[in-house]
Amino acid sequence: METVSAPARLEAFAHRDGLLHCERVPVTDLVARWGTPLYVYSAGAIRERFAELDEALAPVPHMIAYSVKANGNLSVLRTLAAMGAGADIVSGGELHRAMLAGIPPERIVFSGVGKTIHELAAALQAGIYAFNVESEGELCALSDLACTMGMRAPVALRVNPGIDSPTPHAYTRTGHAATKFGIPAERARDLYCIAAKLPGIRVRGVDVHIGSQILSVEPYLRALEHVTDLALDLRREGIELEYVDLGGGLGISYEGGEGLSARDFAEQIVPRVQESGLRLLVEPGRYIVGAAGVLLTRVLYIKEGGGKRFVITDAGMNDLLRPSHYAGWHAVEPVVASGRARGQVDVVGPICETGDFLALDRDMEIPRPGELLAIHTVGAYGFSMSSQYNQRPRPAEVMVDGDTATLARRRETLDDLVAAETGI
Ligand code: LLP
Repeated sequence: METVSAPARLEAFAHRDGLLHCERVPVTDLVARWGTPLYVYSAGAIRERFAELDEALAPVPHMIAYSVKANGNLSVLRTLAAMGAGADIVSGGELHRAMLAGIPPERIVFSGVGKTIHELAAALQAGIYAFNVESEGELCALSDLACTMGMRAPVALRVNPGIDSPTPHAYTRTGHAATKFGIPAERARDLYCIAAKLPGIRVRGVDVHIGSQILSVEPYLRALEHVTDLALDLRREGIELEYVDLGGGLGISYEGGEGLSARDFAEQIVPRVQESGLRLLVEPGRYIVGAAGVLLTRVLYIKEGGGKRFVITDAGMNDLLRPSHYAGWHAVEPVVASGRARGQVDVVGPICETGDFLALDRDMEIPRPGELLAIHTVGAYGFSMSSQYNQRPRPAEVMVDGDTATLARRRETLDDLVAAETGI
């Protein structure tokens, strides 16, 4: 008998009969096959989020360019490619992944302040939808390159609108003047006039990305107004834009609530985009995959001292950096509901750093060594920010779709740790 009343739709991650499932698969089965630490993704959850946003934006011509940096696993990208997603990339590596996964080049936009000539050339050759150009230097280099390749590069200038977006951490704010991102607002018009005359450039759109994990529509409205005003201004100069790219950053709830809803976002954004006559692009990453992933980890030891109770797990900051790097909060719960006494714990990893923690001062059922824990909402910026620090092979990744689980990336081996080195 189910211990949790059946939800209207199958929750991607829920306890049934006291055991955490991903869709229809008990996660203990996944651990039995592939061990811990283990990233587990729900294909159904990814599809559902993409479809929600796609439907909300349906009244306006639009493209959702999924931000590959959030989670670039090929199985994730293939799932999204099959839904008609495009990709927002920031490197030649992400271009390679997006193309391998079957995302058509004409649905790819290339962001980032430091694209190399080789990366620009690869993307030009591939025939991507647009380059989000972030400086005059990049604009000129791209024009020269396109000329030597006998091509014109499709371009949007990424404008820095001077908006201090309300994100939970300073590291994820990108819309204010003092960041390295975008063309300063007061320079944008002039640079468009220069771009329109460059022989290797085809001016196509305007781009803005104000930050990540934004939970209200208001900063997006301000950013949109800023760039649609600019588009109008440019039209008077005889420069016609086709689209506005509002970037990513749509926030999710880490505590289990709704976050920024696609409906609220679209209700306020769509009418203004319609007025502008422009096509809409968005570059969400976290919104689509954030809640679609958990990290499973095994408790190694429990240790008490200094007024603290430490739960030491086999996953550390190299596997999940968000708690340490952004003070990111992730729900942690036992995979098998134990009903044990609750208490305050720090969930920490095996890495030799005091900053190696997954949760601090957390009130939870106190687990025993050998038990499994699930760290929730790690589908975005979980594996993609992982490293081999302390010479720890990175975890495996599994994709669950209904009652089927597929290994999406095998666990790294000790040989993988030294494979690229020459000193053997
Ligand atoms: N577009 C651009 C130009 C970006 O720089 C980013 C994220 C996105 C789109 C996607 O943002 P999203 O929709 O996923 O919020 N590692 C941090 C987040 C860094 C975001 C970097 N840029 C974290 O774990 O919170």
